[in-house]
Amino acid sequence: MNTFNYSYPVKVYFGKGSAKEAFSNELKKYGSKVLLAYGGGSIKSNGIYDEIVSALKEENKEIIEFNGIMSNPTYKKVQAGVELVKKEKIDFILAVGGGSVIDCCKVISTQATIDEDIWDLEYVKGQFSTTGIPMGAVVTASGTGAEMNGGAVITHEEKNWKGGIFASTADFAVLDPTYTMTVPTMQVLSGAFDTLSHALETYLGNSDQDNVSDDIALAVMKNTVVNMRRLLKDIHDEQARSNLMWNSAMAENGILKCGRQTDFQVHQIEHQLGAFTDCNHGQGLAVIQPVYCYHILDDAHEKLTKFAQVVFNQQTAQAGLEALQEFIKECHLPTTLKELHSKVVITDDLLKKVANTTNIIKTNPRTLTQDEVYQILLECK
Ligand code: NZQ
Ligand code: ZN
Repeated sequence: MNTFNYSYPVKVYFGKGSAKEAFSNELKKYGSKVLLAYGGGSIKSNGIYDEIVSALKEENKEIIEFNGIMSNPTYKKVQAGVELVKKEKIDFILAVGGGSVIDCCKVISTQATIDEDIWDLEYVKGQFSTTGIPMGAVVTASGTGAEMNGGAVITHEEKNWKGGIFASTADFAVLDPTYTMTVPTMQVLSGAFDTLSHALETYLGNSDQDNVSDDIALAVMKNTVVNMRRLLKDIHDEQARSNLMWNSAMAENGILKCGRQTDFQVHQIEHQLGAFTDCNHGQGLAVIQPVYCYHILDDAHEKLTKFAQVVFNQQTAQAGLEALQEFIKECHLPTTLKELHSKVVITDDLLKKVANTTNIIKTNPRTLTQDEVYQILLECK
């Protein structure tokens, strides 16, 4: 085991009706002005908005709204949020949405309390500020686990860069599986695939043999596959959505990462693909993950063999990866770049740009070269 400190800052309220309990327990600690942040409007059509607004009013909160947070949130949107938070002297930020809304709010929270541009601070100076205006997260679409950590993924459009920013962590998170019942099938499955990928990418990083986090990661992956298959039979299966919601949180609450290194090379490639194409995160991962795994098959042979045995009940690493590919097809997730919704045509030239700007992780089974990333992307075509 590597040395580590572990403490967990997010108080989780899990289950049907938990928003009301969370607000009643938590919101007294903060001032009266709440920024209610959300996305493109799904919470208005499914009734979550009304429920949240009435629960906030019961706590005598004054609500200022910030909406229109898009998938793959942009740096520009963060700045608009910061401006509003400062103008309105907001006491508390409530993010209601999926990973995009929660991530955008984490950075708004921190940026609103520091003068220096957070992007420059982190990417130019290598300094990190992880405090800010207190915030809570109500998860309406699970998969990213964004409610459990202090990392945010933001697209800087001018720089053609989608990358992680360390920022605030939510003080509490509401995980009510019934809130996810209206999430479109494609998003449910791509979100769940994101969870599978988080556990796999953590597992593939270097670790001691017989490290317990490897075993937990395998359990999270196996359970995610089981519950995704339940949803393929019945997309309205509330128990399966509930299990997936907790798997999503488990994969990103830090437990799997204690005392070990992580990989996350596929995420780095997907984020840059997202920077250029604005593709859906989980779908991008579904295309890249198997191709990457074949590339590192010899370097991670033992781990991929165990993955095959535990997650897909196959005897060899090769058979496990074939089963992963079949599973992606079974879920009707994309298997090639052509199937992704992209805002631009994906050419070889664009893939070269993606590859050349991809962050290379040095703790994965083998450190890739920029050219290998390009080869991987070409194989995804
Ligand atoms: O915007 P609205 O109208 O709410 O619609 C959203 C959006 O179109 C919809 N949705 C959410 N809840 C719904 C719903 N539709 C119906 N009913 C509901 N209850 O779902 C769509 C996708 O939402 P989004 O938040 O974009 O999806 P996701 O949760 O997959 O988040 C993706 C973002 O998170 C980042 C990704 O890169 C991407 O930017 N990630 C964040 C991570 C983190 N902070 O730890 C880790 C991940 O690896 C990931 O990179
Ligand atoms: Zn992810």
